[in-house]
Amino acid sequence: MSIDVIPLNTYFGAEIRGLDLSQPLSDTDFEAWSDAFAKYRLLLFRDQHFSEDQHVEFSKHFGGLEDFVDSKDQVNSHTDILRVSNIWQDTDAIKPVDDPGHKSFTLGTSGWHIDSSFRKVPGKASLLFAIEIPPEGGGTGFADMVSAYEGLSDEKKAQCDELTVIHDFEEARRRYGLLPRMEEIRVANPSVMHPLVRTLPDGKKCLFLGSHTSYVLGMEQYEGRKFLDGLNDWTTQEKYTFFHDWNEGDLVMWDNLALMHRAMPYDLESHRRLLHRTTVLGDGPVV
Ligand SMILES: [Fe+2]
Repeated sequence: MSIDVIPLNTYFGAEIRGLDLSQPLSDTDFEAWSDAFAKYRLLLFRDQHFSEDQHVEFSKHFGGLEDFVDSKDQVNSHTDILRVSNIWQDTDAIKPVDDPGHKSFTLGTSGWHIDSSFRKVPGKASLLFAIEIPPEGGGTGFADMVSAYEGLSDEKKAQCDELTVIHDFEEARRRYGLLPRMEEIRVANPSVMHPLVRTLPDGKKCLFLGSHTSYVLGMEQYEGRKFLDGLNDWTTQEKYTFFHDWNEGDLVMWDNLALMHRAMPYDLESHRRLLHRTTVLGDGPVV
């Protein structure tokens, strides 16, 4: 099968045409895919028709998959597929906007973040597949932390290179004024330290940010927050971002360690939105 790679914007992202993800990947296609993923960090595939098993099989080409422990979040007992949705799985009804779990998920995903950056080893890639999409809104924004780092002044780069940041699962809840999670969940997710700047396998560098960042080691808390918020604003300026408006059958796969992402608003009360996500496990601590 021959693959066409069409860039989506200046710095990152490409649409791949000519691949049916429900079919086994040939070695040649896998090589073309790997090259494109390393170069573009986000790949979009349109008009895909694959089952939950095929979603899992395709995702496993890239490594082991993360498990989602809460059965309410899993798709038909697939522990490795997360439901990203405003629809209850058991009744198929739209969730009330003030349901506490739904509210915290909606608020949590509306901010720029890296999935599971609050873990010592965050997932290295996420694959999101669109099943039901609202008629308006509900897109996903992506921000490129590689080109954002490259755009910094040499002085700012040198400052960032030296810093360590604490990431905390509870940070976004604190920021949105939500009640903390249950104690056993908090104990199972202690805060972790990551370098503010990550080096990619090809030697390039990128910022490592997102809404789970809590404070900067060695900096007064308010100053550290201001510093991180400034970097977040820098990284999410128009030239470093891409906003995808979903169509049913779209699959977007992105480098979770090099891009931040966020969910865009839509009418949560009247419109249905359902996507399935798999996450490829990371190879080790962020370095
Ligand atoms: Fe996410």
